[in-house]
Amino acid sequence: MERERSQNWNLAYLLENPEYSYGDPNSQNMLIHGDNLLALKALEQDYAGKVKCIYIDPPYNTGNAFEHYDDGVEHSLWLSLMSSRLRQLHKLLSNDGTIWITLDDNEVHYCKVLCDEIFGRQNFVQGIIWKSSDNSNNDAKQFSIDHNTILVYSKTSNWLSKRLLPKESQSKHFKNPNNDPRGPWFDGNPISSPAYRENLVFEIETPIGTNIKSPKNGWRWSRETLKEKMDSGEIYFNKDYTNIKRRTYLADSKGLPPSSLWDDIEETGHNRQAKYEQKKLFPKMSKEEWFGTPKPEKLIKKILLVATDEGDLVLDSFLGSGTTSTVAHKMNRKWIGVELGSHCITHTLPRLKMVVDNSDNIGISEEVNWQGGGGFKFYTLAPSLLKKDKFGNEIINPSYNADMLAAAMAKQEGFKYLPHGSTYWKQGQSTEQDFIFTTTQFLTVEALDSVKDEMQLGETLLICCKSFQKECKGKFGNITIKKIPLMLLGRCEYGKEDYSLNIINMPSEAEFPELENEQDFMDDKMSVQELAEKSKKQKKNEQPGLFD
Ligand SMILES: C[S@@+](CC[C@H](N)C(=O)[O-])C[C@H]1O[C@@H](n2cnc3c(N)ncnc32)[C@H](O)[C@@H]1O
Repeated sequence: MERERSQNWNLAYLLENPEYSYGDPNSQNMLIHGDNLLALKALEQDYAGKVKCIYIDPPYNTGNAFEHYDDGVEHSLWLSLMSSRLRQLHKLLSNDGTIWITLDDNEVHYCKVLCDEIFGRQNFVQGIIWKSSDNSNNDAKQFSIDHNTILVYSKTSNWLSKRLLPKESQSKHFKNPNNDPRGPWFDGNPISSPAYRENLVFEIETPIGTNIKSPKNGWRWSRETLKEKMDSGEIYFNKDYTNIKRRTYLADSKGLPPSSLWDDIEETGHNRQAKYEQKKLFPKMSKEEWFGTPKPEKLIKKILLVATDEGDLVLDSFLGSGTTSTVAHKMNRKWIGVELGSHCITHTLPRLKMVVDNSDNIGISEEVNWQGGGGFKFYTLAPSLLKKDKFGNEIINPSYNADMLAAAMAKQEGFKYLPHGSTYWKQGQSTEQDFIFTTTQFLTVEALDSVKDEMQLGETLLICCKSFQKECKGKFGNITIKKIPLMLLGRCEYGKEDYSLNIINMPSEAEFPELENEQDFMDDKMSVQELAEKSKKQKKNEQPGLFD
């Protein structure tokens, strides 16, 4: 199999920190501590087109300096920082997905224009007015600002919102004065066409021989459909045969499209309540230590009800105190959250642990009957593979070790880095049967043979190694062997600064010097052969083979 060689060594990738991962070890939920632009780039390979709902609540650019982050940068800088992040988010959004962005009047209109450019004006869904405050500011000189705007964009223009079951207050008009066995009903739904339609303009003959004139725009249905609805009882004449009525049963209600006005604080919460919940979460913290600008869980719940189903993936790249991940978790959605500030460790991480344990006792837990469970993995961003030295030359980052190199090679070659528990050469995979193995060793024919012996029918393997015995080349059709560029190895194994190797003039394989440092590799690490033998022994002890 011929594999393409890529040369972009600056790919960002994520490192799990198992010390902070929590709950179910198989969970795919991700809490990422780091800058969201790099994190979103790192996610691109695995998650492009896979995120059903993105919610972001970026700094509004109010000019305030909050306890946990500054919220005032020059307007054009704010736009350019947002632009690069929104472009990355656009790549991650699925074709049937939506992005929801909360802002206020400081930047919302500029962000709308930016999003029109990135997501397409035809994909603008709605600007929702959310009542964010439960008490007006009586000291305001001009207006008491009591709302935020939520911009909603879809990836394609045929997105449909999920319909919401009417709340009790919205279904009060359904009554059952005649004890109709089909339950409460309502007779006031429109019977006329919303726009003029010539073919729907006709007179209806009544059983008493009179005619009912059509409304100005015509009826809502054709003559045939109207007859069917009269036969089923949905449409009927009023008492004196001067008009028709339409009966709708509450039980048949398919729910309502969400309104663009979210002003019911019982349903979508408010900022003061959200901040107060920080006190319940962290009773030992002072008021100043609470996260200052959290969103209420109820707000995110409504967004997820409109935009997602159970099991869908939800992403928030300005996670703050962790509200979006919390709500997604309690509503059985998968989630990825990214937060740059140190409060990711002090506030977000403990909050999400409490959610897994069902000990947070706030927000929507009761409404959704949350019982606890699940888990998440904690990631940081790996430092860039290349960095500039004091002379401005690009060198391999000295903090890279062999495992990090293996992860970088996997990412570079389009594999997911996922070391297999017991098979040492399965460090990552691109499909169910295609694996990658990176080793800083010299690959011998013997070692290659022992890897081949372990491979199952249909499996393919890419081996990235420092160098290999020439007989290895092309020995097996399902194993491709590549040399890792020496510039990477030189830095990773020996901590030497190799200034002669410049990323722009990456040396070709033919230019690689011979293995003058081969012995160092052998001394430093276990050889592939030794690994193979160790793994064979382990397997033998673990489970009996067929011929044992
Ligand atoms: C308004 S707060 C979000 C609050 C969140 N919705 C909640 O309910 O807690 C904005 C967050 O974005 C974070 N942030 C700002 N720039 C970031 C970046 N480049 N990468 C990741 N997070 C960032 C800030 O640290 C802050 O926590």
